[in-house]
Amino acid sequence: RPVPVVAIDGPSASGKGTVAERVAAALGWHYLDSGSLYRLVALAAIRAGAPLDDEALLGRIAADLPAGFAGGRAWLAGDDVTDAIRNEACSVGASQVAVLPAVRNALFDRQRDYRCGPGLVAEGRDMGSVIFPDAPVKVFLTASVEARAGRRHKQLMEKGLAANMESLLQDLRERDARDAARAVAPLQKLPDAVLLDTTNMDVDEAVAFVLDLVRGRG
Ligand code: C5P
Repeated sequence: RPVPVVAIDGPSASGKGTVAERVAAALGWHYLDSGSLYRLVALAAIRAGAPLDDEALLGRIAADLPAGFAGGRAWLAGDDVTDAIRNEACSVGASQVAVLPAVRNALFDRQRDYRCGPGLVAEGRDMGSVIFPDAPVKVFLTASVEARAGRRHKQLMEKGLAANMESLLQDLRERDARDAARAVAPLQKLPDAVLLDTTNMDVDEAVAFVLDLVRGRG
């Protein structure tokens, strides 16, 4: 029997990262945050001074990425970049390099390698459509753009960082449009994915919903 995968896809700031991590912990399964890989490519490119639209160069950077995850931290060339990859430049940069087929191809096998027993919870934009099309459980996790901007606002305030609701809304709308409109692996809800709209749901409810799906198919 193939190793089971729970594929959770959805837009930025939908809370899918938190939900996926908690589902993985509850099941004792591996966890893949695929967006971090695109963020690491963006950071590696920024550090190398590479133009983020140079496809051939970005493809090589992605293929040779000296990066990984260990101890719950993200590493690039020996540096702990867990916080750095969350900054604005890497968020925007990740969605720019993610439109390049050479980058997506370079990360393909790397993502599939996370599929190890007893199971994997993978989150991103194309987990169910491209990377794990045979995943027995596929969830499209979303929330209204206002709810997502509100959550991000709260997170930033809690960290003592500046946050402006209008610019957060605008940033999310732009990123949604870029992720949905791109030619390769656009963000989309597949017919075989279960829609989970968390606009009026807290994290516990969303986690319970996904766990019920997994156990129902187990
Ligand atoms: O999920 P996160 O916001 O960390 O992802 C950063 C960017 O990486 C997204 O804006 C998206 O463009 C890209 N991405 C992707 N495919 C994935 C995961 C992320 O294109 N599977």
